[in-house]
Amino acid sequence: MSLWREYVFEKCESTNDLAKEYPPFSCVRALVQTKGRGRLGRVWSSEKGNLFVSYVFPPVCRPSDMSFVAAVGVALALKEYAPHLKWPNDVLIDGAKVCGILTETSFIGTKPEKTIVGIGVNIASSPKGEGILYKTACLNEKGASRTPEEVQGCLNEALTETFALYQKEGFEAIRQKWLSFALPKGQKIKVRLPDKEEEGLFLGINEDGSLILELKNKETRVISAGDVFMENEKNE
Ligand code: BTN
Repeated sequence: MSLWREYVFEKCESTNDLAKEYPPFSCVRALVQTKGRGRLGRVWSSEKGNLFVSYVFPPVCRPSDMSFVAAVGVALALKEYAPHLKWPNDVLIDGAKVCGILTETSFIGTKPEKTIVGIGVNIASSPKGEGILYKTACLNEKGASRTPEEVQGCLNEALTETFALYQKEGFEAIRQKWLSFALPKGQKIKVRLPDKEEEGLFLGINEDGSLILELKNKETRVISAGDVFMENEKNE
């Protein structure tokens, strides 16, 4: 029996907003979003044929862990496409972004109430052109013909598995799995921060999920929020 109780809508503004009204272990999918949201206040293009789904997780001690739980779940669900994870939680196939994850937590006072994990998978199309930061791709241009329902079915199972692993063994087990899908250690990357760009080598993630970057002068930077680009990855 599935862990998830599914709700499907023709259209909504953002499944992350709708999901806030549902109890833990619900998942809310829409065929189209009119105000799809991405990380760092960006717009998530939400054309019919792609997957837009938000999962409601019960409260956990450190809600930021859930982004990594979700990224590992998506990588497992898409494993036939040989995905890679790019910090913090982009899913790439052949170096192009096919999936984004937006994690939001609601609180009662200072106590986390539930965590909403919104997942967008480019299946039939991917946004291109001006305003799109990264190279993008969609699953169906990789040879398969999948429906949003089918991809969600795989996601439901994979997220059940990764959340169970997280509950049993904690963040370290998720961190190890995340690293097994990550770009190779030593890969040259650029990190766009609010006030500057840093260039260096990807060394991994630490025990709270922050990015570890080695600068040219061999100093190490620990970064908790930003956009990572590989060489030639910027969509320009
Ligand atoms: C990113 O910027 O990479 C995150 C994109 C997250 C998009 C998904 S689609 C389902 C859910 N609803 C939203 O409005 N956003 C997330």
